[in-house]
Amino acid sequence: MRYGYFDDNRKEYVITDPRTPLPWINYLGSDDFFRLISNTAGGYCFYKDANLLRMTRYRYNSDRPDSNGHYFYIKDGNKIWNPGWQPTQTALAGYSCRHGLGYTIIEGRRNGICAKQEVFVPRGENCEVTRITLSNETYKDKELDLFSYVEFCFWNALEDMSNFQRNYSIGEVEVIGSDIYHKSEFRERRRHYAVFSVNKPVAGFDTDRTSFLGAYNGPSFPEAVIRGESKNSIAHGWAPIGSHHLTCTLKPQESVSYIFVLAYCETGKEDKFEAPGVINKKPAQEVLAKFRTDEQVDQALEELRAHWEKLLSVYHVESDDEVLNRTANIWNQYQCMTTFNMSRSASYYESGLGRGMGFRDSCQDILGFVHMIPDKARERILDIANTQFPDGSAYHQYQPLTKRGNTGLGSGFNDDPLWLIAAVAAYLRETGDYTILDELCDFNNNPETKAPLLEHLKRSFTFTATHLGPHGLPLIGRADWNDCLNLNCFSEEPGESFQITGPSEGPVAESVFIGGMFVKYGREYEEILRHVGREEEADEAEHTVQQMEKTVLDAGWDGEWFVRAYDAAKKPVGSHVCEEGKIYIEPQGMCVMAGIGLESGEAVKALESAQRYLECDYGLVVLNPAYTSYHLELGEITSYPPGYKENAGVFCHNNPWVIIAETMLGHGDRAFDLMKKICPTYLEPISEIHKTEPYVYCQMVSGKDAPVQGEGKNSWLTGTASWGFAMLSQYILGIRPEMDGLCIDPCIPAACKGFTCTRKFRGSEYHITVKNPNGVQKGIASMTVNGNKLDGNVIPVPAAGSVCEVEVVMG
Ligand code: BGC
Repeated sequence: MRYGYFDDNRKEYVITDPRTPLPWINYLGSDDFFRLISNTAGGYCFYKDANLLRMTRYRYNSDRPDSNGHYFYIKDGNKIWNPGWQPTQTALAGYSCRHGLGYTIIEGRRNGICAKQEVFVPRGENCEVTRITLSNETYKDKELDLFSYVEFCFWNALEDMSNFQRNYSIGEVEVIGSDIYHKSEFRERRRHYAVFSVNKPVAGFDTDRTSFLGAYNGPSFPEAVIRGESKNSIAHGWAPIGSHHLTCTLKPQESVSYIFVLAYCETGKEDKFEAPGVINKKPAQEVLAKFRTDEQVDQALEELRAHWEKLLSVYHVESDDEVLNRTANIWNQYQCMTTFNMSRSASYYESGLGRGMGFRDSCQDILGFVHMIPDKARERILDIANTQFPDGSAYHQYQPLTKRGNTGLGSGFNDDPLWLIAAVAAYLRETGDYTILDELCDFNNNPETKAPLLEHLKRSFTFTATHLGPHGLPLIGRADWNDCLNLNCFSEEPGESFQITGPSEGPVAESVFIGGMFVKYGREYEEILRHVGREEEADEAEHTVQQMEKTVLDAGWDGEWFVRAYDAAKKPVGSHVCEEGKIYIEPQGMCVMAGIGLESGEAVKALESAQRYLECDYGLVVLNPAYTSYHLELGEITSYPPGYKENAGVFCHNNPWVIIAETMLGHGDRAFDLMKKICPTYLEPISEIHKTEPYVYCQMVSGKDAPVQGEGKNSWLTGTASWGFAMLSQYILGIRPEMDGLCIDPCIPAACKGFTCTRKFRGSEYHITVKNPNGVQKGIASMTVNGNKLDGNVIPVPAAGSVCEVEVVMG
């Protein structure tokens, strides 16, 4: 069952039923100011950091889903309603929510009135703009009241929802005309406040929650709206809100618009106040002046649209499969950008209160979006490298505001260092900008210990190469990619961290997965070294990688698939000798991607085993059989009920590894079938089962051992976005940046007759036509560039500004 449809021309998903299985959200903002907005206008906004600078309140685990938002109420006679249905849930005659690229348009109709709520964060501004347009579609006059409503947060979101003995006394506001200023804590150390304003004179306002809602009422039943009159309340403590009351009389067929701006404003240290206790309003007035008229709003929307057009023009495919086109051209890339911006901090499943930026997560995000904004990728890589420890190990997370590593969780997740190589290699392949390797980066943010980025890569490589266990495989430490495989932590008490309780780094437990990663990214490191002429070091790296490859085949091969790990007692994990968890997905995907066993046959066998034991209707589960009880020696992975999360859920992130591996074996049909099982756009027709947004990947889908299968969870912020895009764009469609140029290497279903792709790459534009007259799945019979036959399938980089007409015939 669908709850809407894709409008590809406008690059929107249009939700036509507000009762989606879960709130279906969008992200507005792309630099510092962000707003999460659901299809019923729920959500919140923040500046830079969802924990430390949260502007509006959101409630988790509430009596009903999606509690709180930036709401607008219409009072028409005795009836009150919202354009987005929530929170009053008054029945609407018409409803739609268009989630577009950086904006959302919600439209509701009732009793001859159409209310349109257009919401976006303008480029380069730290504010949310909402334009409400009310239209009288009847043939008689209509008298209407409009009320706005946002609930302010005391900046630190965790404190805000826990420290009530303080919070109930600190709320402060100022109101001047139509401008409501939220200035709690400004009197002391803060130099920022929020302003919520509308561009027309108000009939009244409220800033105190109880005055507006009424005692014991929630936002679904606000007393002021029901009465049709604000109380002009000034919040002294308790819970400050911002609410405007506007009135209008609309003639038949007449429309009126109101522009609301909710902005984050900063002052200097010296000019905080314009009079004792009165905040300096200059920064607020500056931003408000930019969004007073419809023309200004239209122009800002146009700039936003143009920005996205430009970003998406770097990679654009046209095929017979419209679902594939919209996935590759619009939604997958959009999600990659969002995931990069947010890392794993703020979604409807990540509260924004805990995790900072993941080292591994941020590195992987770069794979999916580096083609769109390489400059931001560069900056992010350097930020990440600055947190690396001198021995090459890494903090598992760092804070976006301070850009420093999080000492709480510390390091010891032994896959982390290698992801830095993955990110830098992807950056180099896309841009050819080798100067990044000379950039001086700190170790552990200590400016006295700077070294060029290339040296940081060396330390990543060396750390793994020198931290080996009894079989010669890399030590796993607290965990590897699978955060829940905790082979050195033996936690018996509830509430303890599965990863960092006790001396959880361990000298014995090993990861075959990291072994595979070392081969893959070790080779990429070697390639980088050759490119910068460091042949000797490259030879050494090559040798070390070869040794690891051998070790993986010797100690990491179980007969039909790759073993997952060895635990602290040297027992295999993910082997036929295990009772449960006999086979895991990660090493099958990673080792084959690394090219291990391609020639000697293990690769084919590993993928066949993955298909046989791990596949279900919704993709490949993490492991099989699922663990049915808690294992002290395995850790968090066995804490989950069978079929969920890392215990045999379909963890979408690692499915693309297997799909990429399948393309390496030339299995185009298989790769595509598997992709369709996890790709949300293909799952749109079963939205009632899948539950999460059909336009973005989710982290996990309940697997074949779960009582209810196929339920998606944790949408938006997942490494699946970037790996999904790499899989589709670079391996299935096969347009792949390499160090020496653009490689064309499609692996598609035999029935696919071909496709065209426009790719901007290193300053030139490629118009690529792929034809598949003989129905093959992989292989190129001939290729021309601007009419000239090309040997091989890597197009050497032409002079910047070139246009390359590329004709590819598969066969
Ligand atoms: C984390 C990833 C991790 C994955 C598997 C996600 O929640 O963000 O870093 O690789 O879980 O455990």
